[in-house]
Formats: sequence, C-alpha cells, structure tokens
Amino acid sequence: MRALVTGGAGYIGSHASLRLLDEGHEVTVVDNLYRGHRGAIEALRRAGGDRLKFVEADLADTDALARALADGRVDTVLHFAALTYVGESVERPDDYFRVNHAGGISLLAAMRATGVQRIVFSSTAATYGEPAQDAMPIVESTPQRPINPYGASKLAFEQSLRDACAATAPLAAVALRYFNVAGADARGRIGEDHRPETHLIPICLEVALGKRPHLTVFGDDYATADGTCVRDYVHIEDLVDAHLCAFGALETGKLKCWNVGIGRGYSVCEVLESCRRVTGHAIPSVMGARRAGDPPALYANPAAIARDIGWKAKWTELDAIVATAWDWIRAHPRGYG
Ligand SMILES: NC(=O)c1ccc[n+]([C@@H]2O[C@H](COP(=O)([O-])OP(=O)(O)OC[C@H]3O[C@@H](n4cnc5c(N)ncnc54)[C@H](O)[C@@H]3O)[C@@H](O)[C@H]2O)c1
Repeated sequence: MRALVTGGAGYIGSHASLRLLDEGHEVTVVDNLYRGHRGAIEALRRAGGDRLKFVEADLADTDALARALADGRVDTVLHFAALTYVGESVERPDDYFRVNHAGGISLLAAMRATGVQRIVFSSTAATYGEPAQDAMPIVESTPQRPINPYGASKLAFEQSLRDACAATAPLAAVALRYFNVAGADARGRIGEDHRPETHLIPICLEVALGKRPHLTVFGDDYATADGTCVRDYVHIEDLVDAHLCAFGALETGKLKCWNVGIGRGYSVCEVLESCRRVTGHAIPSVMGARRAGDPPALYANPAAIARDIGWKAKWTELDAIVATAWDWIRAHPRGYG
C-alpha cells in the first residue's frame, strides 16, 4: 500500500503511520506541525527509512496535497489531521470549521485531481453529542446531534464524504467514530504528547511524574456508580487495527461508518485508581465543578464493526492500556521535547 496520512505527526496519525511502516508499506505524512511533533517524524523515519516521506503542508493547500498524492503514488488516504479540543472549538468555531471541514474538502479536491479514491476518516463520538443515557451503549444509528463546534465540524465532513461517495466520480470511504483513545506504541517508540494535554490518562500520569500538583475531577454527582463520568477507552494499537480492517471494507460509492470502542466504560475514579496502581504514585486529586456538556456516560456498542469487518478490541484491561502510556511518558518526561 502507498498511504497518505494527514496529521501523521500527531498522536493517532503517528501510531497509524508506524504500523504501516512496520508492515512494509510506503507512507507520506502531511502535517503542518501546528500540534504535531518533528520528534514523531524522526521516530517514524527510524522505523521506516526512505519508505517515509514527510511533507510539511497545511490541509488548505490543495496543490501541495495533490503533489504529495502524486509524488507518493498514493492509493489510500488516512485522514487524521484536525483541531481536536472541545473547549477551544467553542472559543474558535471558525477555525474548527476551516480546518476540520474546509480542510477535508481541500483534501477531497486533491484526491479528485490525482484520481485517488480511497479514504479512511477519523470521526468521533463527539458527533453524537449528548445521547439520552438510556441510549447507551451508542450504536451507529444513534442520532448525531453534536453539542459543540468540534463535533459539528467532524459531522459536517462525514456528510461531505457521503456526498462525495454519491458523486459522479465516486469515492470509497470509511468513517471511524472513535471514543477515547489511550496508550502508546507497545515497543515504546512513540507516544501521546498533546499540548495542551486535556486527556484524563496522560494528565494523571503527568501528576505521577510531578509535572502537575493534582488531578481535578470535574464533578462527582453524576448518575453513575461512583458519581464520576464514565468513558470508553480504546487502546491506540486496537484503534490502528480498526483502520487496517477498514481498508478491506472500502467500496466505491459508499461511506461506511463504525464506532470504535471497547464497549464498556470506566469512570474517572476507576481511571485514577488504575493510574495509581500502574505508577505506584499517590496521584492526588481535587474535586472541581462539572464541565458544561459532559454527559454522565458515553460508551460504544462495537457489535457492528465486529460483525461487519471482524474488529474486536484486544486491550480490554485498563491497567494494561495505562501501562503502555506510562512506559512512554516515563521514558520521555518532556514528551517530544
Ligand atoms: N485522541 C482522541 O482520543 C480522539 C478521539 C476521537 C477522535 N479523534 C480524532 O482523531 C484524529 C487525530 O487526533 P489526535 O489525538 O492524534 O490529535 P493530534 O492533535 O495529536 O493530531 C492532529 C494532527 O493534525 C495536524 N494538523 C492540525 N491542523 C492541520 C492542518 N490545517 N493542516 C495539516 N495538519 C494539521 C496537527 O499538527 C497534528 O499533528 C482527529 O481527527 C480527532 O478528531 C481523536
């Protein structure tokens, strides 16, 4: 395979690129490094040698994308590049639609210009918004009613993909709706380094490293077993597997959508306890106020992706997931530096 990976210097895109390189494929990463890391590209280079090309370009630059597709003789696109912070999206909605929707349209234009038809897109559970709690677990037909510009901009691109699949020169597309992605390459070559970090597991681990004084828990009066919010954590390697399974399901003229989660949720308290067990650190926590728009529980029903393309999470133990994140962050306390 010759793949173009947008956002390949970021957390998920770098792990997908690494897997493709490990399996002998050719990878062209396109990233503007706004939130990605040159250190991740260097790690990919060590793994893939000259099978890795890196193009520093913005999604808005359709010509640069088309050149990257043509130069890499690309047959399949994995589209991870995005702005990804819910809170920031409320403050800067235009930027979110510019990158997550218009940026995607620019990519589709480049694909059309070069005759590349296959695309797998990183969508998100945020497209579902706040489903009724009796709608848990979330299935693919659960109504998509995003409650912030991040979710709305990702849903808008899903719709554009659907339209592109129905167009006269149709695409073959898969949208994978990820839940919470966690962990790192099990061989410790790359990991998660979001700046700013807003994800629960890395924040707990940063407390364990002494980089933060404590974890703030946003509310303990939800209608869940221990009162804290419950989320579905899928290991990054399982998530990458889902992409590999998706390649085989690409079908011209169709957009296929699947949830990617493990099918059960862990509460904030359970995650914190897991991080304490794995790190051996007390990880102090303080109770904060609820955040607007945080539903009590969000977890996937992954039955459709198992039935349709045979994907099933292998990493279902939270401590094992956390341990891979801890191994990387402990070895790289400054992240990519
Ligand atoms: N991390 C999660 O838990 C999670 C959950 C659901 C969905 N997702 C989706 O997965 C994808 C990857 O998320 P991530 O956590 O790896 O984020 P990330 O921020 O680590 O990676 C995104 C990458 O996109 C690049 N980028 C941003 N804007 C760009 C632009 N205009 N042009 C070119 N490159 C640009 C950034 O530099 C970065 O390297 C996103 O599409 C996100 O919506 C992530």
